[in-house]
Amino acid sequence: MPQTHVTKRYRFCAAHRLHTDQLSPEENWAVFGKCNNPNGHGHNYVVLVTVESGAAMGRYDLDQLDRVVSERIIERFDHFDLNCDPAFANLTTTGENLVKVIWDILEPVLPSGGLQKVGVIETRDNYFEYAGVASTRRGT
Ligand code: NI
Repeated sequence: MPQTHVTKRYRFCAAHRLHTDQLSPEENWAVFGKCNNPNGHGHNYVVLVTVESGAAMGRYDLDQLDRVVSERIIERFDHFDLNCDPAFANLTTTGENLVKVIWDILEPVLPSGGLQKVGVIETRDNYFEYAGVASTRRGT
C-alpha cells in the first residue's frame, strides 16, 4: 500500500579532516586534496531524516523525533571535530560514512521500520543519502 513519508531537517556545524592512517601523507593528499589539510575545516551540515508517517510510526510523533535527533545527533556532533568521535575511530569522515553513522545511531532507537532514509548535505553541491536495512527486532 502506498505510504506517505515525512522529512525533518536538522543542522549542526562540525570540523573534520579527510585522512586515513592506511595511506601515506602523499597518498592522502592525492586522494583527498585540500580536504586533507592537517588543520581541518568545517561544514554547516544539514541532516534530513525521513520517517514513515502513520501506522509504522504508531503513536511516535515528530516532537519525539526532534528530541531523539537533538540528543543523539546534534548534541553529539555540533561544534565538535568529527575525527575525534568514536564512530570515526576507524572510519574516514566522508559524507558517505557520516550519513551511515547517523542511520546506525537513529535506526535502533526509532520505532521498528519507521526510519526510511537519512540525507546529509555537506556543501552547496554535495548531498549524501542512505536508506539502510532496518535491523530485525522482535516485539516492537
Ligand atoms: Ni569537508
